[in-house]
Formats: sequence, C-alpha cells, structure tokens
Amino acid sequence: MTSDRPFFITTPIYYVNDLPHLGHAYTTVACDVLARFMRLDGRRVRFLTGTDEHGQKVEQSARAVGVSPQELTDRNSTGFREMARLLDISNDDFIRTTEPRHIRGVQALWQELERRGEIYLGNFAGWYSVRDEAFYDENELVDGKAPSGADVEWLEEENYFFRLSAWQDRLLAYYEANPDAIAPRGRRNEVMSFVRGGLRDLSISRTSFSWGIPVPGNPKHVIYVWLDALVNYITALGYPDRESYDFSTFWPADLHMVGKDILRFHAVYWPAFLMAAGLEPPRCVFAHGWWTVEGQKMSKSLNNFIPPKQLVDTYGLDPVRYFLLRELPFGSDGDFSHRAVVGRLNGDLANDFGNLAQRVLVMINRNCEARVPEAGALDAPDTALLEAARGLPKTVRTHISERAFHLALESIWRLVGEANRYVDEQAPWVLSRSEPERMRAVLYTLAEVLRHLAILVEPFMPGSARKLLDQLAVPEASRDFAALAHAPLVAGTQLPKPEGIFPRFVEEPAD
Ligand code: MSP
Repeated sequence: MTSDRPFFITTPIYYVNDLPHLGHAYTTVACDVLARFMRLDGRRVRFLTGTDEHGQKVEQSARAVGVSPQELTDRNSTGFREMARLLDISNDDFIRTTEPRHIRGVQALWQELERRGEIYLGNFAGWYSVRDEAFYDENELVDGKAPSGADVEWLEEENYFFRLSAWQDRLLAYYEANPDAIAPRGRRNEVMSFVRGGLRDLSISRTSFSWGIPVPGNPKHVIYVWLDALVNYITALGYPDRESYDFSTFWPADLHMVGKDILRFHAVYWPAFLMAAGLEPPRCVFAHGWWTVEGQKMSKSLNNFIPPKQLVDTYGLDPVRYFLLRELPFGSDGDFSHRAVVGRLNGDLANDFGNLAQRVLVMINRNCEARVPEAGALDAPDTALLEAARGLPKTVRTHISERAFHLALESIWRLVGEANRYVDEQAPWVLSRSEPERMRAVLYTLAEVLRHLAILVEPFMPGSARKLLDQLAVPEASRDFAALAHAPLVAGTQLPKPEGIFPRFVEEPAD
C-alpha cells in the first residue's frame, strides 16, 4: 500500500566540535535512503539534518584550538554540509542552532513551558559530563566515570529545572499507546524500564559558561544544550508558528533517527518537553547500532575515525552507501573492515549486479540494433522471472517500513541471482542465430527486470541507478515506484552505448 501522507524524517544534528566521520555518515545515509524511498513512493517528504553548535563542549573545543566558538562553529558546520553533498544526501533543509529562526523558537518553547508551570528555579548539585553533555546520578557512575566512559565533574550551580518527574506516568502511557514510538523493540524495553525506575527533575540551564541561548528574562543562564538541540526538529518547521504550512503539515515527525547513545534524550526528555508544551510527541524514534573499525572502537586516542571523504575516494560513493546498509541488520552493532567492503563491492555489486546489467545491455546492443527488443510470445521461465520482479516492490516496501534495509537489499539481490541463473539457462547468445525471436523475448524480459532493479535500488545508490536507467532510456518521469507497474520498456526505443556501472575494486600491490 502506498500512501500520500507527508513524511518528516530527521538525522541528529551533529556536534561541531568533531569533524564528520563514518558514524555520522551512517545515520545520514540511512535517513537519505528512507527519504528517497518515500519520495519515489509518492509521499511529500521533508528531510532535515544540521549541526548542534552550542554548549560547553563546543566552547571548550574552540578554546583548545584558540578560536572563538562562533569561528569553530562556522568552520565545522560547513564540514557537515559538505559531507551531505559528498554522500549525495537529499536533505531539504540544514539547520544550525546558532540561526535566529532556531534561537527564537527555543526561547518561545521555554516561555511556553514556563507559562505552563513546567519550569522552576532551584539549586543543582551533581555530576556532569561535558563530553556527553549529560547529567548523571551517583548510582549511574561506573568507576567514577559516566556509563559512556566519559569523565564527569561535580557541579553546583543555580539552575532552572524542568518538572520531568511529573511526566513519568504520562510518558509510560504514551509508550503503551504507541508501541512503535521507540524502535527496535529491545530499545523500547530499555527506555520503558528506565522510566519505570523513576524520573528526577532535569536541570535545563547552566550559569558557568556562556556559549548558548540565553534564558528569556534571566540572561545569566544559558539553556541546556540538549533542550536547545532537540527543539531544532520543530524550529526547522517554523515553530513557534504552529499554523505555518510546514509545522501543520510535517509535525509530528515520522522518524527521528538516532544512534543508541542518544536514545534517552530523544525518547524520554523530548516527548516530555513536547507534551509539556502542549505539542504532539514524535511518531517514532529509531536507535541504530554503532560501528567499530577493523574490530576497534573509533576513538581520539586511536585516531581511527574514518572521514567520509576517505571512504568515497577509496571505494566510490554508491558502494559505500550500499555496504553501510547491507552489511548489518539495522539496529545492531557491526564492524567496518576493508575486507568486508571489498567483498561486497566485488561480489554483490561488480559480479552479481554489474555483470548482469553489462551482459544484457551488450547483447541488446549487438543483437538488437541497440533498441529495446520486441517481447513477442513469452515462455514460462520469462513470465516467472517477470512475476518475481513485479512482486518485488511489495516485499521491499514491507522491509523498508520496518527499517530493515539489509532485508530490502537481500530481497533485491535475490532477483539479481534469479536473473543471472535465467541468463545462463536461456543462453541468449546461442539463440541469436537459431531462434532470434526467442532471443528477443529473453532479452526483453531481462531488460524489464533490469528496469525494476534499477528503480528499486535508486534510494540506496542514486548515482548508479541513474546510469542504469539512462542506459535503458527510461524517461525521467518514469523512474518512480508507480512507474514500475505502469511504464514498461517500449520496444524499439533506442538505447545508448552500454557502460559498466560497478567497477571491480583492485587492491594496490603492497610496496
Ligand atoms: N549533537 C548530538 C545530537 C543532538 S540531536 C538533537 C550528538 N551529536 S554527535 O555528533 O555526537 O553524534 C551524532 C550521531 O552520530 C549519533 O546518532 C551517534 O550515535 C552517531 N555516531 C557516532 N559514532 C558512531 C559510530 N561509531 N557508529 C554509528 N553511529 C555513531 O550526539
């Protein structure tokens, strides 16, 4: 079932104290695939990404390199914008938390919470981790550190508090009533047991540094960076103007994609802030897993952060996009290794899909005067293969609706496998002399299968899909999912000269 309901999807906004790396690329590519998929499925999509620019961590990082926070922020925010371009990300907007539209919205939300009696001034005494930008209870510490391993410091200051403790039951009721609000299932259970364990009021302002949004009416305080950051999801839609087209069309968000480390902020604090301000909570927060690199955690000390540019330069963009979503069940942790990428690239892409496309297009070029052949009378194996292709969109749609990217790709590659077996069995090169009509039926069948494959891989590998669709001379207007059923290839259409789509990865000889 397709639907024309609007679809709003967001990446986390990235801290500007770091340069982009594999982890950021992963979240962003996953969101891009969903955004592209929904657009091809006829939905009106808003896809948001951006940068998280305030807070003590950014202020400290700027000081460490001897520049102002604004300078660091401007420089590094550009790096994330470039990452999006490099990865062919189709975001509709890029929000920065230092923009006036955001600052205005955050202050308006603060005032709304204050007006509703959800905020009070008090004294905070407890543990804070600058790296996590998070408060911790004594009993959460592990060997004197945050559960993430980050250092913590003792903090005593006058702070504003949000009455989070009052939201425990309403949060639990929201999770109960919306079983899909937190995914995957295991993560939902973790969040629910955390909330059942009791919630304390949350400190939402700081006074010991200044790089943040001033608290309305008390500029000695800056707003806690997580409250500031989360609100980007609505300030980008024009909040506080709730009547605006964007806000009324796209809120609540269909999906906030996050890494497992920042689930609590999105699945506990964020819905509580929203409900407390009289706004609807998001429909779904999905927490994905973490990548290690060649078996090791990415860390400053190991200096093994892989910049997205290095990935793209080494393997090519589409192979990287494919690998990230094919290799792991989405939601699980996994390891990024050169060997695994090359295996997928040369196996799934070059050998399986690339060869199929190349063989078919070259045979059509040589034996059918480079025109889409006449289907003529089809035999049972032809219709069986075409039926498999026609059934595939439904399967892929189901997997995508469950964010099971790897299963979606696996089902597409099952058709690639069937098509390769069919080529071998039908041996159209043998038919070219003896039974040219039969050869044309076989090549037509294969070209139609290629059209299905190309359209279905578009969200994952937009550049390669475009090349293949160009080679099949599929008109621009017939490249969405509706066209799968309605716009088959037209016999006689002239095709351009075939060109390989997925080159093999050849190892540089070691010196
Ligand atoms: N600024 C906050 C998010 C605010 S959203 C309102 C933040 N930024 S971050 O830059 O530190 O992280 C952004 C995302 O990158 C997180 O979803 C995090 O899980 C993801 N990743 C960082 N390292 C990662 C891996 N090694 N593997 C997979 N994803 C990882 O948190």
